[in-house]
Amino acid sequence: MNILAIESSCDETSAAVLANGHMLSNVIATQLIHEQYGGVVPELASRAHQQHILPVVERALADANLPKNALSAIAFTRGPGLLGSLLVGASFAKALALGLNIPLIEVNHMQAHVLAHFIEDPKPVFPFLCLTVSGGHTQLVRVDSPLTMTIIGQTMDDAVGEAFDKSAKLLGLPYPGGPLIDKYAKEGDPLKFRFPMGEMPNLDFSFSGIKTAILYFLRDNKKINPDFVSQNLPDICASIQHTLIQMLLTKLKRAARETGIRDIAIAGGVSANSGLRTALTQLGAAQGWSIYIPSFDYCTDNAAMIAMAAQFKYEQGDFTDQTISPLPRMSF
Ligand SMILES: Nc1ncnc2c1ncn2[C@@H]1O[C@H](COP(=O)(O)OP(=O)(O)OP(=O)(O)O)[C@@H](O)[C@H]1O
Ligand SMILES: [Mg+2]
Repeated sequence: MNILAIESSCDETSAAVLANGHMLSNVIATQLIHEQYGGVVPELASRAHQQHILPVVERALADANLPKNALSAIAFTRGPGLLGSLLVGASFAKALALGLNIPLIEVNHMQAHVLAHFIEDPKPVFPFLCLTVSGGHTQLVRVDSPLTMTIIGQTMDDAVGEAFDKSAKLLGLPYPGGPLIDKYAKEGDPLKFRFPMGEMPNLDFSFSGIKTAILYFLRDNKKINPDFVSQNLPDICASIQHTLIQMLLTKLKRAARETGIRDIAIAGGVSANSGLRTALTQLGAAQGWSIYIPSFDYCTDNAAMIAMAAQFKYEQGDFTDQTISPLPRMSF
């Protein structure tokens, strides 16, 4: 079973080849054009996907040392994501599947983030809880089998990745700022500044309040000392990161208590955050949980996770046809 998977939901064009359970290639072309605008510009993203998709797919096949006619299926991200970006990957995948006369498999991007855990060992044991934290989503997912997932909590407003990126923007850092907050936080005191966590009902999250609190905190301090940010950057980053992590882990603890599930995973771009990885490892040890943290390569957007999800669908004969179109707000 040789699956070629394509991911194009946001600003990374990616293609991967999964052959009989082994990931032979995972090529990612990151779009740098958005940095100058401080966020992803949808129209520019779809144009860049058009430029990147052919070389990225060719490179993925070359790295896997596999000719096109050895492929058994083509998989692609159907949603959620930016419509123009999704259209490029979907159209390319449909054309390739039609030309090669092989099955087409549609994949939900957020399910794929969770299933990234099955690319490498150790693999989570069912049922497990997955905290999926990315640029567009913050979800607590109960996973009963590879394709049976239930969202038991999610953000009511901003995603946590957005909170990282918007905080970084307020600090004058370039986009995407999440990894930079992580970097500066390593040298800072996480308890130097306090930010309110706000009200979050049940297993849901809210990150819009902390964003506003940071805005006012910076405005007030810059009035007193115009160099406040440059003089305190590591401590500010560490304190923001600490608060965001505490908000995530508070809900994770509650979800584990309410469901009785002790196998806990994280996924999505923010799961690359070193503070979150360390804090979750420590919490897991204290709670007696089995913790699953993906490799860095499989945290942010990549086609390997799409290929992994597609393999589970292939095994069930869950194929789609040429009439399919992208779903920007796809849920599960
Ligand atoms: N080390 C890090 N610390 C904090 N945030 C990080 C780190 N690395 C990446 N991120 C954040 O992860 C996000 C990108 O993740 P990902 O690529 O999964 O999101 P997306 O695909 O844009 O959104 P979605 O998956 O919800 O559609 C960005 O917000 C980025 O700042
Ligand atoms: Mg993503």
